[in-house]
Amino acid sequence: MNMRKWHITDSQKSILDSIICERLSTNPRSNVAALSAFVKNPYGRNGPLSHLLDHGLIDDQSCSSAVYIIRTRRNEGLLAFSLKCGELYVRDSREFNATQALKKAFFDDGEVSCLSQEEQISRFREICAKKSIDKNQADLAIKMHVDLCKSEKGQVRHVPNTVPGILLVDFCKNFGVSETWRALGLGVERPMGEILFWKFVVPIALSVKKIIGCNYMFLYAADLTQDETLINYYSEALNFKRETKYGVNKPVYDLLCPLMTQTISDMESRRTRYFQEFNMSPDDDEE
Ligand SMILES: CC(C)(COP(=O)(O)OP(=O)(O)OC[C@H]1O[C@@H](n2cnc3c(N)ncnc32)[C@H](O)[C@@H]1OP(=O)(O)O)[C@@H](O)C(=O)NCCC(=O)NCCS
Repeated sequence: MNMRKWHITDSQKSILDSIICERLSTNPRSNVAALSAFVKNPYGRNGPLSHLLDHGLIDDQSCSSAVYIIRTRRNEGLLAFSLKCGELYVRDSREFNATQALKKAFFDDGEVSCLSQEEQISRFREICAKKSIDKNQADLAIKMHVDLCKSEKGQVRHVPNTVPGILLVDFCKNFGVSETWRALGLGVERPMGEILFWKFVVPIALSVKKIIGCNYMFLYAADLTQDETLINYYSEALNFKRETKYGVNKPVYDLLCPLMTQTISDMESRRTRYFQEFNMSPDDDEE
């Protein structure tokens, strides 16, 4: 079905402009009160909200995350999220293969750990030759291994390149404000979190990009559903895509949450389009 789409109206704009988005620690007492009144997700998965309730204010004050709350002027909390600097890295299949080879040579064989580094390297070369592992790959693996040994106990990891980004964390809404939200009178059938993302989250990324080299926003989608509802939502409503090109260092508690990314320049153009096509209805003229 074709849809007729039109620009956000001035009255819708002023409704959205009346909503406040600020750091939790800006008005700690009222913002924490608004956050504490969030109604939990009735279908489970309240990790993000619990995390914000337990750590949000301290994280925000200490700047380990910038924690934001979006609320009405009457202090009804609508959505919360936090942002932190992060980094993706360029994966290299050569690196992967070489590392695999290195692992096989060095770690599948109990003997090698008691050899000197020179002996390990010559042993590794022997194994690579026997297994017909490409010489360039073997050299790369050796270089990585030597670098790794040189760097403080593997603390420094060598990757082909790194890519700066902003990590979106604990994106969660208040499940108890559907009436308040409706009463604001936006009159569109779009999910609250989606609208607030494009209205408030994206401009923060755009302003960061103006002062620091930064070209991605990324997140770990906490989706345990079989049909990947949240992943589809992030993809369709917020334009994040599952990442295949870049790698990331991910905390263990996000183990099962796939990495999704979006360039900040894509976010900028999508945001413009989002508000240009904010209103939609089936096209009556369609034959
Ligand atoms: C994510 C969130 C802010 C989106 O809010 P919104 O834009 O108003 O949209 P909705 O709440 O309608 O959610 C969009 C879809 O994602 C689904 N969804 C939301 N959280 C989900 C989760 N953790 N796991 C699986 N599906 C989820 C919803 O059921 C809905 O599916 P539907 O369109 O089939 O009904 C909100 O759903 C939320 O707070 N979820 C719980 C917290 C959470 O899991 N956050 C994600 C952290 S990565």
